[in-house]
Amino acid sequence: TAVAVLFGGRSSEHSISSATAAGVLRAIDRDRYRVIPIGITREGAFVLEDDDPDKFALNPERMPEVADNGTRVLWPEPGGRRELRVRRADGAVDTLGEIDVVLPILHGPHGEDGTIQGFFDTLQLPYAGGGVFDSALCMDKHFMKVVLQAAGIPVAPWITVDLARWRRDPEGVRADAAALGVPSFVKPARAGSSVGVSKVHAADELDAALELAFAEDRKVLIEPAIVGREVEVAVLEGRGDAPARASLPGEIVLTTREFYDFEGKYLGGDGAEVVCPADVTADEIDALQRMAVAAFDAVDGRGLARVDFFQTPDGLVVNELNTMPGFTPISMFPKCWIASGLSYGELISELVEVALA
Ligand code: DAL
Ligand code: MG
Repeated sequence: TAVAVLFGGRSSEHSISSATAAGVLRAIDRDRYRVIPIGITREGAFVLEDDDPDKFALNPERMPEVADNGTRVLWPEPGGRRELRVRRADGAVDTLGEIDVVLPILHGPHGEDGTIQGFFDTLQLPYAGGGVFDSALCMDKHFMKVVLQAAGIPVAPWITVDLARWRRDPEGVRADAAALGVPSFVKPARAGSSVGVSKVHAADELDAALELAFAEDRKVLIEPAIVGREVEVAVLEGRGDAPARASLPGEIVLTTREFYDFEGKYLGGDGAEVVCPADVTADEIDALQRMAVAAFDAVDGRGLARVDFFQTPDGLVVNELNTMPGFTPISMFPKCWIASGLSYGELISELVEVALA
């Protein structure tokens, strides 16, 4: 089976996707799969990349990048043989052989939002992970909450502000935010890895938090901070008619860090720890797994998702779903499956096989 592993991309999570690729290139079962690594530059060019996990390893000093090496990957025509070709920097065109499936390990807009999924649907190429609808829905924190709420799944209260309104009516936005209280979180609607997210401790911090979030997206959410444990469950689509499967829960344990921000996630910042399995009771595991599968089904989930919860004294609240969660070897998603008995390599095989089934 030939697998095109696709990573990098145009979003602010380019480097995280590249680091995920390092993990996947290292762990994928080479006896079973022929791997074609394809990078997407920050400008959006598809380039044939080196099959070298070390090149893309997560390094806080120098975050991995897909550089434009002058090659261009030429996708097959819809409905024909699935032959992938590459145009070299000197203009020569070579075949890369037929591919069976694409494994898009992209985070954020243009990769995790249904657009590339629609591209592969149009090309009639099978791909792993979320489909067009669930990816588009879960990329947008506003509409994701609307759908979860309609399905009876508890979500944190929120308001959504678009940039035009903020420019037109800042006093009105400040008043709406004040009604939610502090501390609160300000987040871009369509981003990930905590890029553009701030915790607001007092009303006079709101404007700066909004400006930071608006630098990422024209649409921004404000939510009151939820008091509770941060617990996450990894979900995999079932094969055939089998229901989706949920992993053991993991937990983000904050000690000195205020929230699990980009630095704590990827730059080796201390004060936040990924613990898996979480120290929770059997009843709590059961409730988390049930709600994780319910949330996955509510968004018409396909392939995989990580469902992020707050476990509060008043019950579970779903913070969000990520349809292509961080997948570096230190990330929660693979850790949760390893704790549940599936190795990193087996997990990748599972994603590929579900896509081909
Ligand atoms: N958006 C990052 C990669 C995550 O959800 O893990
Ligand atoms: Mg996210």
